[in-house]
Amino acid sequence: MRPMTTRSDALVFFGATGDLAFKQTFPALQALAKSGRLDMPVVCVGRKDMPLEKMKARAKESLDKAGLDEEGWKILEKNLRYAAVDYENAKSFESIVKQLGDAKHPLFYVALPPDVYESVAKDLFDAGLAKDARLVLEKPFGSDEASAKKLSETIHAWFPEDSLFRIDHYLGKESVENIVFMRAANCFVERMLHCDYVESVEITMAEKFGVEGRAKFYDAVGAIRDVVQNHLLKIIVCLAMDLPTSENPEALRGARAKLLASIRPIDPMEVVRGQVEGYLEERGVAKNSKTETYAALKVYVDTPRWKDVPFVIRTGKALMLTRTEVLIRLKRLEQAVLDSKSPPEPNHLRFRLSPEIQIGVGVSVKAPGQAMRGEAKDLVLERSAGEGLQPYERLLGDAIDDDHELYARQDAVESSWRVVGPALGGTEVFPYEKGSMGPKEADRVAPPGGWSRFIP
Ligand code: BG6
Repeated sequence: MRPMTTRSDALVFFGATGDLAFKQTFPALQALAKSGRLDMPVVCVGRKDMPLEKMKARAKESLDKAGLDEEGWKILEKNLRYAAVDYENAKSFESIVKQLGDAKHPLFYVALPPDVYESVAKDLFDAGLAKDARLVLEKPFGSDEASAKKLSETIHAWFPEDSLFRIDHYLGKESVENIVFMRAANCFVERMLHCDYVESVEITMAEKFGVEGRAKFYDAVGAIRDVVQNHLLKIIVCLAMDLPTSENPEALRGARAKLLASIRPIDPMEVVRGQVEGYLEERGVAKNSKTETYAALKVYVDTPRWKDVPFVIRTGKALMLTRTEVLIRLKRLEQAVLDSKSPPEPNHLRFRLSPEIQIGVGVSVKAPGQAMRGEAKDLVLERSAGEGLQPYERLLGDAIDDDHELYARQDAVESSWRVVGPALGGTEVFPYEKGSMGPKEADRVAPPGGWSRFIP
C-alpha cells in the first residue's frame, strides 16, 4: 500500500452545474471553507464553456437558497475555478490540469451519471492527474453485483483502492450516526434490539417531491437502485450490525460489511413496485417506462440475533409528505395482571431521521381507575436537523483528510447489490396517485399490524 496521509490540496468537482451540486454540494463547500478545511483551489467541472463569473453566480444562487454565510462564501469564492470538459474527448481534461496549477494531491469528486465513471477515471489517469490523487464516486456504484465488481476492477487500473472513496451521504448524516450512538451508549436500546423483543422494523423514506429535473438519471435507475441498495440498507446496517469491539476505523467498516453479507437476497414475491401517475409525461422518461418511483419490500437479516424479524422498507417519490423514519415495534408482553380484554398497545422505538431529528419511545402507562388498563404515550425528544455537520460537509472533509471510515468498502457494495438483485425489475409496476402513500398493493408486504399511519 502506498503511503498517503497528506491532506488533499485541491478539490475538483465533476457535475458542478447539476442538481446535487446546487442542493447539497455548494452548501457543504461553503461550510468547509468557513471551518478552514477548504483552503485550496476548488475546480468546478461542467460540460459547457462558461465564464467563471457565471459559475460563481450559480454557486451563490445555491447558497442564497440554502443559507448564505458571508465569511464562508468569501473564502470559497476566492478559491473557485471553472473547467469545461467534453466527456467524449479525453484531451479536454487538459483544462483541469491548467486550473489545478501546483496542486500535488487533488481530490476528484464525481457526481455524474454512473455510466461515465470509467471513462472519467481513465481520462484523469491519461492526463497525468491520478498520481497521489483521490477519487470520490457518487452512488449508485454500479447497477448490479456484476457491474459493481467490474467497475471496481476497472477503476483499480488507474486509482488504487486506498485512493477510492464510494460515497453514500446517509452515512454522513447526524441522524443515522445517532442510531449507532444510541445503541452504544444506552443499554436498554442495545439489549432490546434482538428478536426476543422486536416484532418488526419498518423504514419509511417518503418524499413529497417528484423526480424534478432529474428524470433522465432517475429513469435509468429507479427507487431501488437510487435509495434502497444504498441509503436504506445502510439504515438497517446501523440498527442491526454487531457493534465493533475496536476503535480502529476499519473495524466499523468491517462490521457494516459483515452485516450486509448476512442479509438474505430479497424474495421477489415480497417486493411491490409502483409508479406515480403522470411520471411517463416527465421530460427524459422513456416511453412506456417501467421504472419504479415507489418500492415496498421485506428484508431479513440471517443472524441468530435477528431471526425471523422482518425489516420492511417503503420509499417513494411524490408521496403525501417528506419524512424518513424507522419504527421498531416490540413484542407484546403476556402478563396475567393486565386486563386481558383490552391489552396495552405494544411498545415501540422510533427514529425520525428527517426532515427533523426525533426519537420517540412508545410506552403504556396505567389509565386512572380500578382496571389494569393502559394508555399509549409517546415520549419524544426532538432536535433540529440543521445542528452539526451536514452530510456532504462531513464526508468530503473526511476524504480530504484521507479518512475512509464512513465510506463503503467494495465487499459491502457487492453484498448490497446481491441483496436487492432479485428485486430489480421483473415484477409488475402498480400505479399510484400523487400525494398518496403509494399503491394499495403495498399492503401485501406491510409489517404485522399494518403500515404506520403518517400524519402530514
Ligand atoms: C439521493 C437520491 O441520493 O438521496 C434522491 O438520489 C433522494 O432521489 C435523496 O431524494 C434523499 O436524500 P435526503 O438526504 O434528502 O434524504
